[in-house]
Amino acid sequence: MTARLDGKVALVSGAGRGIGRAVAFKLASEGARVVVNDLDDAPARDTVDTIVSAGGTAIACPGSVTAADFAERFVATAISAYGALDIVVNNAGYTWDNVIQRMSDEQFQAILDVHVTAPFRILRAAIEPIRAFAKREAAEGREVFRKVVNVSSVAGLGGNPGQVNYAAAKAAVVGMTKTLAKEWGRYKVNVNCVAFGLIRTRLTQPLPSTGSGQAAREQATIDVEGRSIAVGVQPALLESLETHGIPLGRAGTPEEAADGVYLLCGPESNYVTGQVLVVGGGLTF
Ligand SMILES: NC(=O)c1ccc[n+]([C@@H]2O[C@H](COP(=O)([O-])OP(=O)(O)OC[C@H]3O[C@@H](n4cnc5c(N)ncnc54)[C@H](O)[C@@H]3O)[C@@H](O)[C@H]2O)c1
Repeated sequence: MTARLDGKVALVSGAGRGIGRAVAFKLASEGARVVVNDLDDAPARDTVDTIVSAGGTAIACPGSVTAADFAERFVATAISAYGALDIVVNNAGYTWDNVIQRMSDEQFQAILDVHVTAPFRILRAAIEPIRAFAKREAAEGREVFRKVVNVSSVAGLGGNPGQVNYAAAKAAVVGMTKTLAKEWGRYKVNVNCVAFGLIRTRLTQPLPSTGSGQAAREQATIDVEGRSIAVGVQPALLESLETHGIPLGRAGTPEEAADGVYLLCGPESNYVTGQVLVVGGGLTF
């Protein structure tokens, strides 16, 4: 049996933890060479080491996707290390929630920066080498499909209280996906989007219960661009979603989320573009 992505080169942002890490493992296990990004150096390197120890090929490209020079550096890493670029997975992100009357401009903008502006810049940088490869392949009479998978959320499709910044950003990702599907068909790039429901990661871990002293869990935070932002979901909301909201009866695993991304990276999706695949166990929005 051959690996489905043999010879392909993939960029995966936010691949030090959670869904991105599972995506990097999945693509590498199918033969892709992976450029692993994360804001945090150690988790990015750990993903690379785990892939390499399993016999795969990967290289780290740490740093924030929101840095002005990041997109060019990310794309250049793929080209200089592997001489190709076939798959881009825009996954890096986090949440910074509040109701609109308590949301600052900074809070709104930071979430647009990471979920919308960063993927826009990465895709703008990626199209230069992709156009050159596509032109050469067309001249040779070959049709080679490349893949973009942008990560959205059911919050971007149906809204979610407390997430006006995140829902706006994740809706913008859908618009960007559909537009680039139309611009890039001529280069044989399939541009699709995966909208996750509830996936068990650091982002969705239960918030600590208040007033329970010693028994209280540590509040999880993400340290990004000099800010320490609390992440997590109220335990009661998690329970109610799993019991009543998700027809399959539980949150998804990062591996199940990664399988959704993978569906849009292989040859079976060569005639699928501009679509949003909801990976949410039937969660409606
Ligand atoms: N977990 C869910 O239920 C869920 C649902 C819908 C959408 N999503 C989306 O899935 C994606 C992955 O989230 P996750 O649940 O795996 O979270 P996670 O926190 O487990 O992993 C996200 C990774 O992205 C990295 N990251 C964050 N900001 C970054 C930046 N500026 N530059 C580079 N890396 C950065 C983090 O360091 C982390 O390692 C996000 O875009 C998120 O919005 C998640």
